[in-house]
Amino acid sequence: SRKLGNGRQSPTSPLKLFGQAKKKINDIFVEINGYVDESNGFLGGLDDKDDIISKDQKDKTQSYADKVKGIREILNRDRMKVAFFGRTSNGKSTVINAMLKSKILPSGIGHTTNCFVQVEGTDNQEGYIMQGDNQESVHSVKQLAHALCDAKLDVDTLIRVCWPKEKCSLLRDDVVLVDSPGIDVSADIDTWIDKFCLDADVFVLVANAESTLMVTEKSFFHRVSSRLSKPNIFILNNRWDASASEPEMMEEVRQQHMTRTVEFLVDELKVNKPAEAEDRVFFVSAREALISRSNEAAAATPNSHFLDGYQGRLFEFCSFERKFEECISQSAVQTKFAQHADNGKSITAELRQVMAEVCDSASDKRTNTQQLLEETRDRLDFVDKQLSLMETEIKDKIVTMAEDVEYKVSSALMDEIRRL
Ligand code: GTP
Ligand code: MG
Repeated sequence: SRKLGNGRQSPTSPLKLFGQAKKKINDIFVEINGYVDESNGFLGGLDDKDDIISKDQKDKTQSYADKVKGIREILNRDRMKVAFFGRTSNGKSTVINAMLKSKILPSGIGHTTNCFVQVEGTDNQEGYIMQGDNQESVHSVKQLAHALCDAKLDVDTLIRVCWPKEKCSLLRDDVVLVDSPGIDVSADIDTWIDKFCLDADVFVLVANAESTLMVTEKSFFHRVSSRLSKPNIFILNNRWDASASEPEMMEEVRQQHMTRTVEFLVDELKVNKPAEAEDRVFFVSAREALISRSNEAAAATPNSHFLDGYQGRLFEFCSFERKFEECISQSAVQTKFAQHADNGKSITAELRQVMAEVCDSASDKRTNTQQLLEETRDRLDFVDKQLSLMETEIKDKIVTMAEDVEYKVSSALMDEIRRL
C-alpha cells in the first residue's frame, strides 16, 4: 500500500517527462551542432574571392554556430519553476518545506520571509546560499534559517538556496521553487512580477482556509494574468486542519471556498474551464504534511500531532502534488522546449538554404567555365582550319609563281639561244 506523503516518489512521476524531453532535445542539438560545425569547416575552406561564397554567407553560418551554442547553454540551465504567493503567514514557506520534505526554509508566526528565496538543486554534498555572486556555505538547516533571517535585504532581492539534490527528489527532477514575502507587504507588485514571475511555469496561491480570498491576493493574480497569457495557477486553501475544530461546518465552508475560488479562476481570470478549475483547488494542511514527512524521515509515529481527518488532508496534499507535477512538466516542456525546437528548425533550414546557394553558385561557375572552354575550342578549330586553308593557298600560289618564273626564265633563255 502507498505510504502517506510518499506519492511523489513513485517511479512514474510526471516530472520525469521534463527530464526525458530535455535529454531528447539536447541530443538533437548535439546533432545540429555537428551539422553546423561540419558546414562551417567546409564553407570556411572556400575562398570568397572565387565568387562561390560571399562574406555575408560566411558570417551567417558562423552566427548559426553561435546561436546553437547559446541555445545549448540555455537548455542545460532550463528547469521547471514554481512560484508561491499569498498573504503573510498563510503558510507559503511551510508548503514549500512540506514539498521538499524537510524544514529548509524558515517559517513562523509574523512576517518571516523578507525577500525572495529560490530553492534549487545542486550536485554538491552540502548546501550553500548565493546572494548575487557571493557564495556562503550552509552546514545545517538551522544555520540556513539564521543566514536568511539575519540578512538585511530589500523585499525584491533574490537569495538562491542551493540544496543537495541527493536529499530531495523534487530538486533532482529539476524543479526550482520560489518563496516570496507576503503580497500584502510590498506595494511594488509589478516589479515583482517582472523580476520573478515572467518565466514561472506554475504559480501557487497559498490562501488561508480560515478566511476567504482577499482583494490583495486577487489583484496580484489579475496583474500576473495580464502579463502572461493563461498562467497556470493552483490555489491551496491552507490551514484546513482548523476545520477539524468545527466539523459540522466543514462541508459547507469547503463548498463555499470551492465555489468562490473556481469562480475566480474561471470567470474573473478566465484561465481555466470550470471542470479544470476544480482540479486546481485543494484543501490542505501544510503544517501536518511537513510534520508527517519529516517524521517519516526520522521513522517516528506522527499520529499524536494531528487533529481528526488528517489522513484526508495529507492525501489531498499528495493529490495536489500529483496534479502540480503533471501541470508543471507539461507546461515547461511546451513553453521552453517548443521554442528551442522551433529555433533549431529554423537554424537548420537557413543553413540548408546557404549550402544550397553555395552549391548553386559553384555549379554555375562550373557551367560557365565549361562554356568558355567549348567556345575557346571552337575558335581554335576555326583558326586551325583558316590556317590550313591559307597554307594550301600559299602553297598553290608559290607553285604557280615558281612555274611562272620557271616559264619566264626558260622562255628568256630560249629567246637568247635563238638570237645567238
Ligand atoms: P511569511 O513568510 O511571513 O510571509 O509567511 P508564510 O506564508 O511563509 O508562512 P509560514 O510558512 O511562515 O507559516 C506561518 C505560521 O503558520 C507558522 O507558524 C506555521 O507553522 C503555521 N502554519 C503553516 N501552515 C499551517 C497549517 O496548515 N496549519 C496550521 N495550523 N498552521 C500552519
Ligand atoms: Mg515565509
